[in-house]
Amino acid sequence: MAELSQVPYLLRAARGEVLDRPPVWMMRQAGRYMKAYRDLREKYPSFRERSEIPEVAIEVSLQPWRAFQPDGVILFSDIVTPLPGLGIEMDIAEGKGPIIHSPIRTQAQVDQLRPLEPEESLPFIKTILQALRQEVGNQSTVLGFVGAPWTLAAYVVEGKGSKTYSVIKGMAFSDPTMLHQFLGKLADAIAIYVRYQIDCGAQVVQMFDSWAGQLSPQDYETFALPYQQRVIQQVKQTHPDTPLILLVSGSAGLLEKMAKSGADIITVDWTVDMADARTRLGNLKVQGNLDPGVLFGSHEFIKERILDTIRKAGHGGHILNLGHGVLPNTPEENVAYFFETAKQADNLLAVHA
Ligand code: CP3
Repeated sequence: MAELSQVPYLLRAARGEVLDRPPVWMMRQAGRYMKAYRDLREKYPSFRERSEIPEVAIEVSLQPWRAFQPDGVILFSDIVTPLPGLGIEMDIAEGKGPIIHSPIRTQAQVDQLRPLEPEESLPFIKTILQALRQEVGNQSTVLGFVGAPWTLAAYVVEGKGSKTYSVIKGMAFSDPTMLHQFLGKLADAIAIYVRYQIDCGAQVVQMFDSWAGQLSPQDYETFALPYQQRVIQQVKQTHPDTPLILLVSGSAGLLEKMAKSGADIITVDWTVDMADARTRLGNLKVQGNLDPGVLFGSHEFIKERILDTIRKAGHGGHILNLGHGVLPNTPEENVAYFFETAKQADNLLAVHA
């Protein structure tokens, strides 16, 4: 009986067990579409407060857990959270995302970066992850997450989010030596941070290389993939049993290359049919891949897409998720319906078959 297992459901699937239905969670399941989050944001207007004051971050992480009982509970934080520990000051602006006060553009700035010491600079992460494990016990799996080197470098070099990535691409295509040094330093810091999250209680860790899909396949192989590999190799040396998930946004042209990262599970977005993704990825496990826009549809439509995705993914090695984060203004009630339906998928599929 699944309910009696000491190992939570998502972790069992991530380790390769074939289960009755895929485990389910949602990227960005904590956040703006939830009224409870918006209310709390009025009391703590700064994102850094919400994510770095342990009691607040614990509360936000648990809001979707209490509302929907997802199979995965993700730490509420951001990919730029470790940067101040390297000496890179940042803020997260409402509606805009990360802002880097002094973007890195020179060799001297790269040379000045400090190695990450998470016990010193990220003590709140330990408090949060320990509390989440305590709270969910073996009823759910606690996920940690980090940004990948290319995506973090994109924020730090550009100074903010970008549509064109022209500053970092200018650097990549004119002064690659400096950028490679920077990516290497980021990779080592991120590996330390993943290990720390695992030591603090994260049972699965997802690495977001959100903006690596902005690179051509050949540039992905030069500036993104080797640094994903460098993080994953270092983590696997010390923590071989913790499943690692990789996400690249807009990854349709990159799936086979993502498979070379060393990640155990590849996130697939909705620009690829899940059955095609399975063929292209061979034995690797997959996560995804509903269009977040589906959650603006009718209940019937949401149910059909859930079942269709599960059928296409086939038995085992699949974590049901959206292909990217849940969108602001998504009706909470549809999120609730998504989770309820996904958790009955074994019965629903038997009826439909
Ligand atoms: O999945 C979860 O529930 C965990 C929460 C989470 C946040 N950021 C909280 C957040 C996660 C996993 C992230 C990762 C992250 N942050 C990524 C990778 C995931 C992806 O979307 O590809 C990226 C690229 C960032 C950078 C970032 N931070 C962006 C683009 C934004 C949104 C800007 C905006 O306002 O549209 C942020 C801010 C942020 N991080 C918000 C949340 C819930 C929104 C601000 C808020 O709600 O207060």
